[in-house]
This record gives sequence, C-alpha cells and structure tokens, in this order.
Amino acid sequence: MILNNQRLREIDRNIWVQDQSFKYWGLEVGTRMTVIRLAGNSIILISPIKLESQTQENISKLGTVKYIIAPNLFHYLYLQEAKNIYPQAQVLVVPGLTDKQPEIAIDKVFFEDEIDFGSELEYILFAGFRVSMITQAATLNEVVFYHPASKTLILTDTAFNFDGEGCSRSESISNHRVDRTFPWLTQLGAKIMGSYDTLQPSVLEKLVIEDREKVQASVEKILSWDFQRVIMAHGSIVENDAKNQLKKGYEWFLNKNLTKLK
Ligand SMILES: [Fe+2]
Repeated sequence: MILNNQRLREIDRNIWVQDQSFKYWGLEVGTRMTVIRLAGNSIILISPIKLESQTQENISKLGTVKYIIAPNLFHYLYLQEAKNIYPQAQVLVVPGLTDKQPEIAIDKVFFEDEIDFGSELEYILFAGFRVSMITQAATLNEVVFYHPASKTLILTDTAFNFDGEGCSRSESISNHRVDRTFPWLTQLGAKIMGSYDTLQPSVLEKLVIEDREKVQASVEKILSWDFQRVIMAHGSIVENDAKNQLKKGYEWFLNKNLTKLK
C-alpha cells in the first residue's frame, strides 16, 4: 500500500519525498511533500504535509528549512503549521492565496515578488488550468518546479498517476522500487476519471479547461526542460521516460499533438 511508506525517503541526490494519507471525494489518493536541498544546506518544503516529530528530526539532518511553498491554490493545509515549526523560513505562495487564506502568514508571492533559487530550481506558472470541484471549476494557479540536477519535474495537481499492484508499465523500466499500489476503489475511480497508470490530469479537468492556449504554452515550456522523472502530489512517481509520458498525457488532454521533444 502506498501509505505504508510514510517516511522521508531519498529520491535522488538532494531531493526527498514523504507521503501522507489524504482522501478526496471519499477516495484515498494520498498526498506528497517534496523536499529539496539547495547549496548551503537550505531546505525547501514544497506542499508540506503534517510534520510529525520524526519527520522534523529527519528534515533537521538534511539542513535548515528556508522556504515553505504552497504550489497552488489548494495545497496550503499545513502551511501555517510548518511556518510555526520553522519561523525563520519564508512562506512562498501562488497568486491568489493571500486573498483565499488571509490568516496564513505569507512572506512572498510567486510572480509578484522576487523569488530566485538560481540555477538549482526553476519554475513556471502552469496557466489556464482549472480543477473541477463538485459544483464549480476553480483556477489552480499551480507553480511547476524543475530540479535540473536530478532531472526531476515536480507537479502537484496538474497530473496524476494512480496504479495497481504488481509490475506496471513504468515500474518495469525502473530500477527504483517506489510506492505502486492504491486501494481498489481509488484504482476504479482513477480508471473512470482517466488517471489510471497514466501521467495526465483527469477527465474532470479536461471538461473544465479554462484556456487551451495557455495550457499548451505551459506544457511546451515544461517539455523544454530536460527531465526524466516526475514527482506529483497524488500518484506513483514516474522514474523513467516521464517526459514522454507527460507529453502523451497532455496530447490527450488537449486533443492535439504537441511540440517535438527536445
Ligand atoms: Fe492536490
């Protein structure tokens, strides 16, 4: 089960993840925090989960937490709690979160304030993307990150990858055993929604797409990055061939062929 593995685990040099149980519409989809270490042992927490004492201890061995990031308008649940644990850290959020969650102590807003991680971590705004709520669609405003040293793309809600037990397509080409199993009900839901064992948004997002041209421009920028792995907040990490899988996923999403891979 994916959620048996709720510990900080190293994905590559200077990049770790930790999972936590999370239910959406009654389905266990899990949620994932990504931890990145910059030069000087500065630590970035992207989409923080609830930080238990063991997790805090593990993070303290890696370096000093300098940045706590809400990567979109929905992944902010443990932001203030993380800030309380690491008061010296800066809370970085996406545009619109200040209005949505005014009680959170926010230090900087992406694309409004200067936020520069140098060449160690790049980012763009995934524009034109909406998520489907039960009664309405809502702008996501997700910031997507690229960690060049590990050739890793870090998504949050702009693609999923739910799968089942056993050896599946992506695991069979991986030398890195990762969490591969979701409850059967989640698998069924993912199959219905088009997010089963494939790296793409669900049918729900496809139905409420806000601006196709902006989405395409965002995806093409992402595909210009030289990544092999995708970490997402909900789903199994894709260790190899992730760029090709994401391209195919967004060709389905946009109903069109995208730029050739570079
Ligand atoms: Fe999410």
